[in-house]
Amino acid sequence: MNLQLRNNSKNPFTLITGASSGIGKAFAVKCAQLKMNLILVARTGPELKRLAESLKSTYNIQAVYFCADLAQKDTPKRLYEWCMDQKLPVNKLINNAGVGHAGPFEESTIAFYETMMQLNMLSLVKLTQLFIPEIKKHSTGNILNVGSMASLFPVPYKCVYAATKSFVLSFSKALREELKNTSIKVSCLCPGATITNAAVQARIKASGWKGKIFTMTSDKLAALTIKKFLTGKTVIIPSWKNKMVMLLTKFVPDAFIPAIAGKLFRN
Ligand SMILES: NC(=O)c1ccc[n+]([C@@H]2O[C@H](COP(=O)([O-])OP(=O)(O)OC[C@H]3O[C@@H](n4cnc5c(N)ncnc54)[C@H](OP(=O)(O)O)[C@@H]3O)[C@@H](O)[C@H]2O)c1
Repeated sequence: MNLQLRNNSKNPFTLITGASSGIGKAFAVKCAQLKMNLILVARTGPELKRLAESLKSTYNIQAVYFCADLAQKDTPKRLYEWCMDQKLPVNKLINNAGVGHAGPFEESTIAFYETMMQLNMLSLVKLTQLFIPEIKKHSTGNILNVGSMASLFPVPYKCVYAATKSFVLSFSKALREELKNTSIKVSCLCPGATITNAAVQARIKASGWKGKIFTMTSDKLAALTIKKFLTGKTVIIPSWKNKMVMLLTKFVPDAFIPAIAGKLFRN
């Protein structure tokens, strides 16, 4: 790992989880373009190393990386301790790593759901709690938690995933209120379908026109999100089409929403 760092006290770091691919990688590129120093986290070392090297040389920033599985209970603490040992000042945390899923609830194992809940919720909560005291040391600080449009309503055939993302939205809004008199602004991103890994691409394809009209590239999503994140927006819904869906859910009685979502996601 590259640890020949300059004095960083005036150039704090943004920590991004799930930075080796997809939306997290797009966040890393966008932040590097804005000259933000980066701590990149994911399981796959070679990808992270390549990305860190390329961002450092292209944008003249500092970028370090930490490879670990955030679905392991002790990883958030190890990551925090590593950052403190390396004297990396952190003023922004982007909790992006997450795993998605589609299919009947009964067809996946409980072990799979446990890993999903560990990654999507517990690691995010642990990292947030560990890094708040560090972020508070800076005059401004931001936390971005990546939810989903599935944060906004129950989604049959994505039962557990949607529930984890509802948790992320609720946690983010409540924590933002608790921290309102501090230097930290908490935001939650609720993206719709975004072209990233092969499974997501297959799901977008299978959903036909309904999925495709809401689809965005990860680069466009990152550009829209980072701009709003830096202004401290509470809930970031990146496209007008998704904002329309959110508005519609407010007018449809709660009892009908699972049935409508079930029809849309059955395939
Ligand atoms: N794509 C969409 O349509 C969409 C829509 C709404 C919300 N989201 C949310 O956006 C976030 C990113 O999704 P994405 O589509 O960009 O996914 P992705 O392309 O699969 O990327 C996931 C990233 O997280 C890392 N990661 C996965 N499991 C990990 C673990 N156990 N420990 C550490 N890192 C891990 C992956 O790297 P390694 O495999 O190397 O660890 C990768 O860098 C997720 O929270 C997802 O729920 C995505």
